Amino acid sequence: MCMKLIDFHCHILPRLDHGSRSSQISLSQLKLMQAAGVDTVCATSHFYPQEMLPETFLEARASSFARLLEVAGDTPRPKIVLGAEVLICDGLDRMENLSDLCLEGTNVILLEMPFSPSSWSSRLFQTVADISDKGITPVFAHVDRYPSKLVERLFDMGFQAQLNADSLNRLMKPHHLLQWIEEGCIVALGSDLHGAADDAYKPYMKVCASLKEKTASIMAETEKLLCDAVRR
Ligand SMILES: [Fe+2]
Repeated sequence: MCMKLIDFHCHILPRLDHGSRSSQISLSQLKLMQAAGVDTVCATSHFYPQEMLPETFLEARASSFARLLEVAGDTPRPKIVLGAEVLICDGLDRMENLSDLCLEGTNVILLEMPFSPSSWSSRLFQTVADISDKGITPVFAHVDRYPSKLVERLFDMGFQAQLNADSLNRLMKPHHLLQWIEEGCIVALGSDLHGAADDAYKPYMKVCASLKEKTASIMAETEKLLCDAVRR
């Protein structure tokens, strides 16, 4: 099977969030990905709009990435696309410089919906629509974590999403997730990697292998999303 493996969601930038406590851990994370044959990884550290402005995050991200390059060299492998995992809140569409949080070089933003279903209000759905109206393409992070009826409201609005590999890493894969893949609602797979334990990357590898041609079609969709991305 000829395809590029793209990990769309992970936390590998040193000390930017809880994904990596040091440059050495980040380097170990990259090595796990290299061993798995990953071509490109999107570095999607958490961004919480209640806590900081996009420009503050971007400054911190640039420093963190520079620290990573000190140990990984100027051309790290896998290639890295800088981004963010942006927690949505009411009115996020009005945040200045929101588009700067898109994956670099694209208009694609990884949005995280609130964990509590009661927070999925009509206003929140409206915020999603308003973000899209601004020319930003949301991809929803790890939708395997949420009640399917709520997620399907996003799909009905025409949006697409990313799955965490561990959600599919079982003998009996959840039927609704396979159905979402069949219906083209899933455009990316992610490890959501935190830390660098020896087995931390196994779920992603196992799922990519077990989904076979479905993996190839998802990766083709991811590749389209990233066609203009800056890969470092
Ligand atoms: Fe994450």
